[in-house]
Amino acid sequence: MTKVQDYDSLDYDYRKYWKDREYENLSERNILSKIITSGYNFIDIGGAYGRLTDIYKDKYNYSILFDYSYKNLKRAQKYKNVFRVCGDIYNMPFSDNSIEGGMCIRVMHHIEDPKKAIKELSRIINSDFILEFANKNNFASLMKHKFSKEFISQDKYEIPHNKDSQGFLDNQIFLNFSPKFIITELSNNKFDIKNKYSVSNFRQKFLKKFLPLNFLIGSENFLQGFFSKMSFGPSIFLYIEKKNKTKFIKQDFSEILICVNCKTKLINYKCNKCRKSYLDKSGIFNFRPTFNN
Ligand SMILES: C[S@@+](CC[C@H](N)C(=O)[O-])C[C@H]1O[C@@H](n2cnc3c(N)ncnc32)[C@H](O)[C@@H]1O
Repeated sequence: MTKVQDYDSLDYDYRKYWKDREYENLSERNILSKIITSGYNFIDIGGAYGRLTDIYKDKYNYSILFDYSYKNLKRAQKYKNVFRVCGDIYNMPFSDNSIEGGMCIRVMHHIEDPKKAIKELSRIINSDFILEFANKNNFASLMKHKFSKEFISQDKYEIPHNKDSQGFLDNQIFLNFSPKFIITELSNNKFDIKNKYSVSNFRQKFLKKFLPLNFLIGSENFLQGFFSKMSFGPSIFLYIEKKNKTKFIKQDFSEILICVNCKTKLINYKCNKCRKSYLDKSGIFNFRPTFNN
């Protein structure tokens, strides 16, 4: 089985991470507010406690906050049309092409098998999607490692190696990817790249310390086209669209759910074949592989 970065076993409250990262938060929100469209249903894959839910929740009839971490989902603010679903990106409990749009932000760096995750993503998404990944070839990193043998000898277009300075896979999964690698995988999995955005371009301690936040965000807005063209920043957002889209069929949340074990359609959140019920007392739909009801 593919290894998963499990925040719950580390007891990691992800809200803590955002205490002193106002610039990165604003930079991401800025671009998402511009590119998230509207439609019938939307999924936020690896959405954790819903840091970004307010941006999309009113643009869709219903949204899905999907994450492997049960504890972080439990911390999410409850909204009427946002369903909290706990599960694994490699095996999502949704039927083919059942979700119109979505996003996956700051999750790819925890994905040990990106090919498998992208294939699964392509299976459930019908129209458009925003995929973020940590950029292995960002400008600061390229400069830092310009003269490092280790960096030069590695294959820039593949996923990082075990002892790679750009990522590690030992106890924790933290991986940066080259844009070319991710774009090729998306294209192999029926996605066209519509736009590329370089985000958090000023993520440098000294810049954040000495320059006002408004100035950094304003400059980023002004220079985003240029930065994006050269994949300058540490974080790349890709706006992607399904090739040869089929006609989207609008279905309620309860109608798109399938069992993660036998792939049968659920009825009232239950799999009659496996005799499992996936809705728990906290109102979370729990599809974690270890889950036993
Ligand atoms: C760095 S956080 C990002 C949270 C959110 N997208 C944001 O930007 O605020 C990464 C999230 O990915 C989730 N995650 C990691 N591996 C996953 C997997 N295999 N399936 C689903 N979620 C996963 C983690 O539980 C965590 O909540």
